[in-house]
Amino acid sequence: MKNIVILISGRGSNMQSIVNANIPNANIVAVLSNNPDAAGLAWATERGIATAALNHKDFASREAFDQAMMLLIDAYEPDLVVLAGFMRILTPAFCQHYAERCINIHPSLLPSFTGLHTHQRAIDEGCRVAGCTIHFVTEVLDNGAIIAQGVVPILDNDTADDVAARVLAVEHQLLPQAVADFVSGSLKIVGKRVIKRHQADSSAQMLA
Ligand code: GRF
Repeated sequence: MKNIVILISGRGSNMQSIVNANIPNANIVAVLSNNPDAAGLAWATERGIATAALNHKDFASREAFDQAMMLLIDAYEPDLVVLAGFMRILTPAFCQHYAERCINIHPSLLPSFTGLHTHQRAIDEGCRVAGCTIHFVTEVLDNGAIIAQGVVPILDNDTADDVAARVLAVEHQLLPQAVADFVSGSLKIVGKRVIKRHQADSSAQMLA
């Protein structure tokens, strides 16, 4: 079994998609938040999952918050930390501590539109497609090796909310699959790329 800690900041629908997927050998040991009012915490508690919140406003610095969050996370001995709508910029110390065992879902087709308001920015740029990216977390915001991406159309009269809803449905498919792939040991990081291990094995055989 692999221990999974999920971090959220709000409603937690992506967290719910992971829990509901009943991923083999994935033990969801805790759902944690920087927001004590995050709706997803109550949902997880109702299902018997340990929850806790550390309010970032109670900490003097980003570093102090991240150190406290790391202590809290590590109490659950995670094999994987999933940022599922966790709306905090993380310190280098946090990112290094969880290197290659922390993944994030971002609502754009990276490397385009890092940061916030991704769907409105895509509409404003005239993009015909939008999407989401699941990637390993590194010190550079929204920049780690990409595990999976999903694409949806942007239609002529779309608002940012329309695009967000269309993308969210894809997020709910891709994130549980990425967690399942991590848990089964299928993901191999090669530089900035992630390849599925069976693909790595077959190319190794081809080279042999
Ligand atoms: C998702 O769209 C995620 O990509 C973005 O924030 C949203 C979180 O939604 N970072 P939820 O809390 O998982 O419902």
